[in-house]
Amino acid sequence: MVKKGIILAGGSGTRLSPLTKAVNKQLLPIYDKPLIFYPLSILMLANIRDILIIVNPDQLKNFKNLLGDGRRYGIKIKYKVQNKPKGLPEAFILGKNFIKKENVALILGDNFFYGQSLTSKLEKSLTHKSGARIFLKKVNKPENYGIAKIKKNQIEKIVEKPRKFISDYAITGLYFFDNNVYKYAKTLKSSKRGELEITDLLNIYKKNKKLRFEHIGRGAVWSDAGKIDDMTNVSSFVQSVEKVQGIKIACLEEISLFKKWISNKIISKNIKFYGNCEYSNYLKRI
Ligand code: G1P
Repeated sequence: MVKKGIILAGGSGTRLSPLTKAVNKQLLPIYDKPLIFYPLSILMLANIRDILIIVNPDQLKNFKNLLGDGRRYGIKIKYKVQNKPKGLPEAFILGKNFIKKENVALILGDNFFYGQSLTSKLEKSLTHKSGARIFLKKVNKPENYGIAKIKKNQIEKIVEKPRKFISDYAITGLYFFDNNVYKYAKTLKSSKRGELEITDLLNIYKKNKKLRFEHIGRGAVWSDAGKIDDMTNVSSFVQSVEKVQGIKIACLEEISLFKKWISNKIISKNIKFYGNCEYSNYLKRI
């Protein structure tokens, strides 16, 4: 079972500068909520309630102001400061004392997922005991992502940002790992771009025949919102869905209430916390 999840929300967000000069990328808005609400909602939908958020030293206070210890959402949030971003697998080194002897999920703080089919795929991944599991999505520009080449329903090759086309299946920023992940992450060496690469970590699992994959499928949406155009596109998408359907995507209280993790009393408290805004009005309705 996977009961613990890490959200990697550090990094300098240089691709979004000057927006990120004073505020962390994951605190910037995607339509009506901070970006971090979206990956956090995905962990919650996967029934993961024990969460570690990795943040920059100067942003710790802001994250705590927004999310606190998670009680507001019926979950437990701990924070870990990352002094200098050294690549995604560092999450497992920083998270050693949080992971302990358990399996763990990792989601990137700038990744947006949406679609009903996702929930059942996530739940299936939770029963996952050994190895690693990744989620693939077809993309237009494979050179921007970690890419998996699939042959006969098996992963044949994994390459980080391939210069030459090998496949258009991107490895999205959601991963499930067994407890070997810390041990393997410790053996990694920095790549040419000076970072530990998640694809190198996945290649260790692949070599051991312990890497599985799921297709997110056409019915679900995924985007890495780490660049300005992606961020505005995702924002417009959320706006359209919310306006037309009158629902909210990534309303943390709604997920928590549905799972019976919080009471109406906590929702009333949260309404006071947010103040008079559209999000509070929505909470009143649910
Ligand atoms: C990172 C990973 C890449 C993955 C992507 C998903 O890329 O290195 O393998 O496909 O996240 O968002 P980066 O955002 O560091 O360019």
